[in-house]
Amino acid sequence: MSLLTDRMINAPADTAGHRADLFRASVAGDRERLEKLLEQPGLTVFDRVRAQLWDLVKTRHPARRLDEAEHQALVERLLARRPEVEYGVWAYYPWSNRLVHLLDEAEFVELRTNRNCYKISPDERDRLARKRIGIVGLSVGQSVALVLALERSFAQLRVADFDTLDLSNLNRLRAGVHNLGVPKVLVTAREIAEIDPFLDVVCFPEGITSENMEAFLCDGGPLDLLIEECDSIDLKIELRYAARRHRIPVLMDTSDRGLLDIERFDLEADRPIFHGAVGDLDPSRLRGLTTEEKVPYVLKIIGADTMSTRLRASLLEVQQSISTWPQLASSVAMGGAVTADVARRMLLGQQTASGRFFIDVEEIVPNAGEAPPAGRAGTSAPAIDLRGIADRLAPVASGRDLTPAQVQRLVTAATLAPSGGNSQPWRWLWRERRLCVFLDASRSRSLLDFRSLAAVAAVGAASENLVIAAHAEGLGVRLKALPLGDESELLATFEFIEQGGPGDEPSTADALVDWIPARVTNRRNASGEPLPTEAYAALDGSIAPWPEARLRWLRSRPDLTEAGEVLGAADRLLFLDGRLHAEMMSEVRFDATGSNGRGIPVETLELSPSDRAGLEVSRSGPALALVKEWGGGANLEKMSRKAVAAASAVGMLTMGKGGRPGYFRGGRAFERLWLTAAQAGLALQPMTALAYLFARLHEGGGEGLDPDITAKLRALWLRWSALFKVDAREAEVLVFRLSAAAPPSARAPRCSPTDILDIS
Ligand SMILES: Cc1cc2nc3c(=O)[nH]c(=O)nc-3n(C[C@H](O)[C@H](O)[C@H](O)COP(=O)(O)O)c2cc1C
Repeated sequence: MSLLTDRMINAPADTAGHRADLFRASVAGDRERLEKLLEQPGLTVFDRVRAQLWDLVKTRHPARRLDEAEHQALVERLLARRPEVEYGVWAYYPWSNRLVHLLDEAEFVELRTNRNCYKISPDERDRLARKRIGIVGLSVGQSVALVLALERSFAQLRVADFDTLDLSNLNRLRAGVHNLGVPKVLVTAREIAEIDPFLDVVCFPEGITSENMEAFLCDGGPLDLLIEECDSIDLKIELRYAARRHRIPVLMDTSDRGLLDIERFDLEADRPIFHGAVGDLDPSRLRGLTTEEKVPYVLKIIGADTMSTRLRASLLEVQQSISTWPQLASSVAMGGAVTADVARRMLLGQQTASGRFFIDVEEIVPNAGEAPPAGRAGTSAPAIDLRGIADRLAPVASGRDLTPAQVQRLVTAATLAPSGGNSQPWRWLWRERRLCVFLDASRSRSLLDFRSLAAVAAVGAASENLVIAAHAEGLGVRLKALPLGDESELLATFEFIEQGGPGDEPSTADALVDWIPARVTNRRNASGEPLPTEAYAALDGSIAPWPEARLRWLRSRPDLTEAGEVLGAADRLLFLDGRLHAEMMSEVRFDATGSNGRGIPVETLELSPSDRAGLEVSRSGPALALVKEWGGGANLEKMSRKAVAAASAVGMLTMGKGGRPGYFRGGRAFERLWLTAAQAGLALQPMTALAYLFARLHEGGGEGLDPDITAKLRALWLRWSALFKVDAREAEVLVFRLSAAAPPSARAPRCSPTDILDIS
C-alpha cells in the first residue's frame, strides 16, 4: 500500500476535544508535563509573550508616549526577575498540536478587551463576565458565538448542534475545509478557545433533545439568555415554553431582511411565544404533523408577509430547482453582529422591550430604481346610462307589474348565479314593467376574460336562475337576449306575463328552483372515484334545450392526467406573467375587509395549510418576476394537477358559435348543468382560465398577451385540442372538474341588491 493511500485511510478520528490545556511553567507538576509535551513530534511552539507584555504596558499608559528604555523597564518590572518562560501561561491546543505562550487570565482579559473601552465600560465588562448564554443551532449561531466571544460578553457559553460540518455549510459558516466532518459544536468551541482559552464553552454535540433540554438551560446555573437559531420548528416551540418557564429571555435572528425577534420572558412571564403568531401551539401536537403541514407555522414564524422578495421567490423553487431555502454569509455575519449587540444590551439591562425588528440593508441602501409592481390591468369603464339605454326599447305592450319586493326577490335569486372571480358583472333595472340586465364591464375587464365573454356567460346564468325563480312565483317570463344588438350593454330584458302564456319560457327546469341557493363552487378534493353513468346522463340531458351546446367528458385516468398537466402548465404561465398574476390575485380575498361582497374568499379555495401558505408566498408580483427570470416555477403546476387528480371527470361545455349571443346562451346552459349537478349531490369547480385565454388567442390574435405567452399557449393548444377533440372555432364556455366531494367549507358572498338594482 502506498504511503498516500495508507495516510488517507488511516486518518485518525478527531477526539481532540475543544479546550486548550493550560500549563504554568512556574508550577512544579505543570512544568514537567510541559517539558514532556515539548518532546511530542510535530508540535509547533509560539512564544510572543514579550510582545504581549509590551502591549500591556502601552495600554496601561495611555496618556503618555513611553520612550524605549522606559517601556523596557516597565516590562522588566512586570517580569519581576522571573525567567520569561515562567511568566503567564502556556496554552496547548491538541487538535492542532500548537503550544502558545500567553499572558495569564487577568492580564489577558485586560489587554484583549482594552479596545472595547468605553463602548463597554470595565464595570460592564465585569458584569458580562458573570453571564451564561446558550446558543442552539450553529449556522447563524456560530456567527453569534464568535462575536460574543470576541466582545467577551459571557462567562459561560453553552452551544448545541447535532450536526457535523458539510461543504455546503461553507457558504456561510466560517471554518476551514480541514474541519469537514467535525461536529459544529467543536468547530465553534475550538475557534473560541483559539481566540480566548479562558472562556468556558460547554458543548452539547447531540443537539437539544427533550431529555437534555433542562440540563442545557439550567445545569451550572440558569442561562441569562437563550439564543435560538435552530431549524426544527418543534424544538423552537418547545425551547420557548421551557425558557418561559424558567424566565429566560430568547433572541432569534432569521437572516432574511435582518429579522430579529426578542422575547423577554424574563420580564413578561405570560408573554405568548413568537409574539402570539402561532397561538398557544402545543409542541406535542406539532410533532405529529408532516413537514408539509408544518410549513404554515414556519411561515408565520418567519413572517409570510414581510419576507424578502428573493426569499419568497426561492421558497417557490424549493424541491424543484433548489433543495432547501437559501442563506447567505452576509446575512449570517450581520445576524451574528446584530444578535451579539442586542444580547449584550439585554444582559446589561439596557434593552428591555420584546418585539420583532428588521435591520434590512436593502431597504436602507436601496438598489437602483426597480420597475413598479404590475398593477391591475385595464382602466375603469365609463358609467353606464341604464335608463338612457332602456328608453330606447319599445314600450311593454302587455306585462304584469311587480312589487319592488318581488323584483328584489327575483334579482336576489338571479344573482346567486356564479361569475368568474365572483365579480358579479351585472346591473339590474326595473322600469315600466320590464326588468333589464346590463353587462357591467368595469367588473370584468381583464386579460382573463376575453371581450367580457365570461361576464356575459355569468349574466346568462343569472338569467336562467331568474326564469326558474319567476316560474316558482307563478309568473310567466318573456326573455329577450340582446334586444338592442350584440354590441349593447343591455344583455337581456324580462317581461312578466301569465304562466304558460304566449312567449313564456319553457318550464323544463322549474324543478331545479330549490337548488338555486344550494349550487356552489366546490373546490374540495375528493378521491377521484368514477361516478355512476346516470349522473352523466342527467348532466348531458340538462343542456338538451340548447341544440348547439355540446358537453365533452374526460373520464379515463390518462386523459385526466394529461388535462391536469396542461392546466398546471397554464397556471405556471398565468402566475409568471405580471399582469395575469396581478389580475388573478386581485380576485382572491385574503381577508374580508373591503370586499363589498365581491371576490373569492380564500377559505373557499379549500387549500391545505401548506398550499395556502404557498399561495400567500406567491401573492408577491416581484417574487414571481424573479422566479420567471430564473426559469423556475415548476411548483406552480402542482395545484391544478392535484385538483384534476382528485376529480372523477373534467367536462367542457362548448357552444357552436361564440360572441355575446353564444356566451349568453352558454351561461344559461351551464347554470342548468350546474343546478343539475347540485341536485345530484356532485361537486363542480370551473377551471376556465386557459379556455378564455385560448379564445383570446384564436378570436383576438392574442391581443394584450406577451408574445412569449402567446407562443406557449399555441403549444398548449395542440395538446388541449387533441385531448378534447375540440375545434378552435367552438366557444369553450365552461371547463370544469366534477367529483363526489364533501360539501364546501365556505361560500362566496354576494353584494347587496341595492348596489346592483335600480327600481324606478
Ligand atoms: C365563467 C366562470 C368562470 C369561472 N372560472 C373559475 C375558475 O377558473 N376557477 C375557479 O375556481 N372558479 C371559477 N369560477 C367560479 C367562481 O369563482 C364562482 O362562481 C364565484 O366565486 C361565486 O361562487 P359560487 O359559485 O360558489 O356562488 C368561474 C365561474 C364562472 C361563471
